[in-house]
Amino acid sequence: MPTPARLHVAHALHEVFGEGGRVPDIWDRDLGEDAHLAQALLGLCLRRWGRLQAWVKPKLKDPDRGVPLGTRVALAVGLAQLAWLPGVSDHAAVNEAVELAANRELGFVPHKGLVNALLRRAAKDRAALAAELDALPATLDRSPAAERALTAALAPHAVEAGGLETLWTQLQQPPRLAFRRLKGEVPEGLIPDADLADCLRLEEGAPFPRPWLEAAGGMVQDRSSQALLAYAWGRPVTRILDACAAPGGKTTTLALRHPGASLTALEVHPRRVARLRQTLQQRGIEAQVIQADAAEWLEQPGDAFDLILLDAPCSGSGTMQKHPEWPWLAHDDLPRLTGIQRRLLSAAANRLAPGGLLIYAVCSWLPEEGVAHRDWLAEAHPDLRPARVWPAAMGAVGDGQEGATATFRPHPLRWEGEGFQGFAVERR
Ligand SMILES: C[S@@+](CC[C@H](N)C(=O)[O-])C[C@H]1O[C@@H](n2cnc3c(N)ncnc32)[C@H](O)[C@@H]1O
Repeated sequence: MPTPARLHVAHALHEVFGEGGRVPDIWDRDLGEDAHLAQALLGLCLRRWGRLQAWVKPKLKDPDRGVPLGTRVALAVGLAQLAWLPGVSDHAAVNEAVELAANRELGFVPHKGLVNALLRRAAKDRAALAAELDALPATLDRSPAAERALTAALAPHAVEAGGLETLWTQLQQPPRLAFRRLKGEVPEGLIPDADLADCLRLEEGAPFPRPWLEAAGGMVQDRSSQALLAYAWGRPVTRILDACAAPGGKTTTLALRHPGASLTALEVHPRRVARLRQTLQQRGIEAQVIQADAAEWLEQPGDAFDLILLDAPCSGSGTMQKHPEWPWLAHDDLPRLTGIQRRLLSAAANRLAPGGLLIYAVCSWLPEEGVAHRDWLAEAHPDLRPARVWPAAMGAVGDGQEGATATFRPHPLRWEGEGFQGFAVERR
């Protein structure tokens, strides 16, 4: 039997390439110390899937015949270890991949011999294997969806030639986590971010602050989310709505920023509602949590809000660094998503109090999920006007006026954080 780490990686690869599904957040929960190996291996297989397949193809007897997914998974797992994980022995890398190939559920039994032969040959000179794989063009690892998202990320910014390659290279590095303090002392090893107030980073070599997070002393929150919620807004805020709230990171920040305001948090998926409730309770955040489709809920008659955050469901194109499976997913639901975003936005705009602030955001670079909605809203709602609540540096060329911007789209090459797009409007 392959070790649990390799089995988990193989399951995750089948989920992505067989089912078109995402890698679940807690896919490695039960792995204990093996989680590091599994994370590294899965990251390599996903980030270099294209070149791993391209390396295998010419070595097959009939390269034009389709190769079963079980064979491709076993070979990718074996080759990635041989090429890029020098701490794994030849024996472990080859034998476990062959066992994967022989696994009826995850492999393809008739190709056990083929997998064995290819990996044994590759193991004879691991440095040459790595050099050969590294020399293959990076474009092999970029799906058309990834190419499109990168192009969209750079389009609004002044970027020199080669920017797309630079961005892609950046996205291949595992992301560096950012944290935010909620209460009490900050543990050793966490230091203030140089450019973002309240943001904390882990010093090189410092232990992961698990006990602090478990005791709700702080939370993990991406830099882009933190910068988005660092909006400058001086008007009184007494009623807040977080329209798409789970898992509750931004709800928490809203509560910290506006103590004393009443906070309503909506979420449509029952399991995510449960997680949201639990998170807020652990952190001592008071909010009225309601399970509802936010558009339907907002379309009912009800009181208006002084501040609405609409962190809408989206394609997640800006999360490729954290989710290296993103380039390989189908992405055929964009029209459905943009329809939902527009309906949510329209419903939220109608429940904004006079003088109130509406912030819309998505973790995506695609213009149809962001600035296109901004322009549409401006036409549909002359009663709203842009609210310049972020420093101009958080926008693209031409977004800023008087040092501030109403459009949030940090430069993907100069800003470390998830790809985000947002805008802010206020009711006249
Ligand atoms: C981008 S996530 C929100 C992340 C959250 N704001 C945070 O910072 O922790 C979008 C959330 O909206 C939820 N959602 C999707 N469609 C919705 C709808 N129609 N009404 C309410 N929530 C929805 C999703 O289940 C998901 O939890």
